[in-house]
Amino acid sequence: MAINWFPLLLSHLLFLSFPISVSSLQNLYEVDVHSLMPSNVCSSPKDTKPRLRVVDRYGPCSSLPQQQSFSHEQILSNDQLRVDSIQGHISAVSGRNNSDPLASSKITAQYGGSFGVASYIVSIGIGTPSKTLTVVFDTGSDVTWIQCEPCQRYCYPQLEPIFDPSQSSTFANVSCNSDPCKVVGYDCFESSCLYGVRYGDGSYTVGYYAEDTLTIAPDVISNFRFGCGQNNNGTFGGIAGLLGLGPASESFISQTSYKYNRIFAYCLPALSSSTGYLNFGTDSNLPNTQRTPIPKSPSSPFYYYLNMTGLSVAGKSLKIESKVFSKAGTIIDSGTVITRLPPDAYKALRSEFRKRMKQYKMAPSISLFDTCYDFTGLDSVLIPSVGVQFLNNVTLDLDPNGILYVLDISQVCLAFASNRKRTDLGIFGNVQQRTFNVVYDVPNGEIGFSPEAC
Ligand SMILES: *[C@@H]1O[C@H](CO)[C@@H](O)[C@H](O)[C@H]1NC(C)=O
Ligand SMILES: *[C@@H]1O[C@H](CO)[C@@H](O)[C@H](O)[C@H]1NC(C)=O
Ligand SMILES: *[C@@H]1O[C@H](CO)[C@@H](O)[C@H](O)[C@H]1NC(C)=O
Ligand SMILES: *[C@@H]1O[C@H](CO)[C@@H](O)[C@H](O)[C@H]1NC(C)=O
Ligand SMILES: *[C@@H]1O[C@H](CO)[C@@H](O)[C@H](O)[C@H]1NC(C)=O
Repeated sequence: MAINWFPLLLSHLLFLSFPISVSSLQNLYEVDVHSLMPSNVCSSPKDTKPRLRVVDRYGPCSSLPQQQSFSHEQILSNDQLRVDSIQGHISAVSGRNNSDPLASSKITAQYGGSFGVASYIVSIGIGTPSKTLTVVFDTGSDVTWIQCEPCQRYCYPQLEPIFDPSQSSTFANVSCNSDPCKVVGYDCFESSCLYGVRYGDGSYTVGYYAEDTLTIAPDVISNFRFGCGQNNNGTFGGIAGLLGLGPASESFISQTSYKYNRIFAYCLPALSSSTGYLNFGTDSNLPNTQRTPIPKSPSSPFYYYLNMTGLSVAGKSLKIESKVFSKAGTIIDSGTVITRLPPDAYKALRSEFRKRMKQYKMAPSISLFDTCYDFTGLDSVLIPSVGVQFLNNVTLDLDPNGILYVLDISQVCLAFASNRKRTDLGIFGNVQQRTFNVVYDVPNGEIGFSPEAC
């Protein structure tokens, strides 16, 4: 990644039509335009550590057969559904929307965000003997689930064989009167616990809450509880299910706290043609980590909160009153694609970014984005760095692939979006997290970031 980013060389000053001060030199980058586009060949350096490989479902590093990918418009509109449902969840945990067909089976216990388009996936093993299944991981969901045989009403098409509990010697149902069932269950059938999760975009999974051996190579976790979904549908892209990394009590993180002590980290790759990782346990903390506290969630135990405190463009801090951030609050989410900012913060960012990009031709707005450029015919461009600040003087200098979202070479957009209302929750999304080791150190109440980790 780093090789695509050359610090501005002095010689380039000769070609610039506007004066540029020496101090801003390290805050501008010359970007090879082609390096912003994914290649159709996977480049994956050998990982020497035993941890899960994270790949983009639709990129060349995915081991699943290629399927029609979503268009950028679909990705962005699904992203907005996810954001709407997270913000709706926070503001009205009680007021559920009963417009889908499963509402009649009173699924009220669990509520996921929108599934989004499930782009970052890992492979896990379930059962004895272990069957390899590819799942999306999500820090905004708690219940882990997979599709299970026998499918009752409907299972969406899955690219790997659907898990068959009768082939596993360690599979068991979770009983109705157990504590886990009190958390996720909504009904009983022949003393087995029924679970259901409904996502904001209408996707859902319903079935028996079960337990079996889970293999997170090289570790083996016995009696791991998950939803064995016998009626599922949604925008799941052929994957087998979901690994829930949220903070609440039945999540993977909570169930494995005896082993990993609620510490995990991931690195999301810069491009869909490269790979990252997902790691559990104390070695997730890297040495050069900047750490920010996880504030106690005021209204919801289902998300990881952060205190965003400021933004900078080309090294210059933007004038944004601190109450702009504190009024809205912020979470970090692996499943939201584009970072959502309070309107006043977004306006300040957009205005300074546009000022620094005024030598480029603007392109039409699209979907969430209103600051786009046409780089047609250019080999390289100069873009300002963008910094995101969190409490405790943590400043993340975003990777260029975390600043720009490339729809097409003629439409490259500032990869941030504005919330509608000042009180809407802010979300630090996965595009901006690219290439950082993001460590969730729950026992220490901190989230840490270290750059250029993948
Ligand atoms: C419920 O969801 C439907 C479709 O997703 C939407 O049209 C409707 O406005 C929602 N109702 C409420 C009360 O949120
Ligand atoms: C789990 O419960 C369901 C519903 O009662 C039943 O059909 C299934 O056989 C049970 N599985 C096991 C392994 O007990
Ligand atoms: C599953 O979802 C797809 C797309 O949302 C829809 O077209 C289809 O009718 C659904 N199938 C069932 C059985 O609900
Ligand atoms: C930190 O975030 C929490 C939760 O959003 C909020 O209640 C608190 O006021 C924030 N603190 C500061 C110093 O911004
Ligand atoms: C904040 O961090 C910057 C560099 O990252 C440093 O120069 C500055 O002194 C720090 N400020 C405080 C108050 O720690």
